[in-house]
Amino acid sequence: MGGTDAADTEPLIEVAGVEKVFTVRRKVGRLRRARHQVRAVDGLTFQVPRGEMVGYIGPNGAGKSTTIKMLTGILTPSGGRLRVAGIDPSRERTRLARRIGVVFGQRTTLWWDLPLKDSYELVRRMYRVPAGAFRTNLDRCVELLDLAPLLDVPVRQLSLGQRMRGDIAAALLHDPEVLYLDEPTIGLDVISKAKVRAFLHEVNAERGTTVLLTTHDLTDIEQLCRRVMVIDHGRLVFDGDLAGLRAAADGERLLVVDLAAELPPIEGVPGARTIKVDGPRQWLAFPAADSAAPLVTAVAARYPLVDLSVREPDVETLIAELYAGGGAARVAPGGATRPAP
Ligand SMILES: Nc1ncnc2c1ncn2[C@@H]1O[C@H](COP(=O)(O)OP(=O)(O)OP(=O)(O)O)[C@@H](O)[C@H]1O
Ligand SMILES: [Mg+2]
Repeated sequence: MGGTDAADTEPLIEVAGVEKVFTVRRKVGRLRRARHQVRAVDGLTFQVPRGEMVGYIGPNGAGKSTTIKMLTGILTPSGGRLRVAGIDPSRERTRLARRIGVVFGQRTTLWWDLPLKDSYELVRRMYRVPAGAFRTNLDRCVELLDLAPLLDVPVRQLSLGQRMRGDIAAALLHDPEVLYLDEPTIGLDVISKAKVRAFLHEVNAERGTTVLLTTHDLTDIEQLCRRVMVIDHGRLVFDGDLAGLRAAADGERLLVVDLAAELPPIEGVPGARTIKVDGPRQWLAFPAADSAAPLVTAVAARYPLVDLSVREPDVETLIAELYAGGGAARVAPGGATRPAP
């Protein structure tokens, strides 16, 4: 492996001041249509070194998919500079295609009416994958993603989780250096998610494939990525590790308790406040850095406790808190500035 276009010391992905503006036509009144500009990506700067696995998160409409589409060459940036393995994606999309793999969780890149294995055969021809490498890669994917029983099934008959595993395999058959995953676990059940995560971890660790992963599931990030980038309104608002994100967001965790009866909101638990009551279930927020154990003891001492769980804040909550709190100091140098509140 290794590129011919860029020295191995150079970042594999380079994004510098990249912008993407869409012009959309909106109906104004009954007959008139007005042009309107959407800044989907607004001065984005980051670099990803070879071999890294980076989480790319943010609320709906933040600009994640637009970024990935620019990194594959599907979309041309309106401004700024973009390089993947030394290649300008939109100018040399075909040359880049041999070196990257893409999975869009929301839609398949497989041939709907063909059995999975025929789709793979087409991928092999499209990328002119040498027979030996193809066999090795396919065997590995089939084994790790449990694809054997699915190879003869037409793609349209696959369940969402089966199709997603099929898509991920298709993206890796030509040994890409970079893998972009846009919500690869969306809609999957717990077991499928675990399978996909284990596979991605293995691909990154064994082959050194550089991975950029978009997700709304914080567990994906926790289990796979040391580094996480947060985008909102087209700008990078955080670039660092997950612990740093929690700290920047000054996040809270939730202790969810089920009591034996419907009771008034729990009071007098030091370091926690009750934020929601729904029948016998109550939610207590406490600082993310604190241990939940003393809270549980305090609740159990005075209330009829039946069951409990501790929940991490989800990505959206973290981001909302990142805005509300002073997270700006955590934005990486060279990253986009935080928009004015
Ligand atoms: N082809 C397009 N034409 C016009 N506007 C677009 C187009 N594609 C995206 N947008 C707009 O750009 C913004 C960013 O969209 P994008 O799909 O990148 O968000 P996202 O972060 O992937 O969101 P989600 O989490 O919902 O997938 C949104 O406001 C969206 O409406
Ligand atoms: Mg998206």
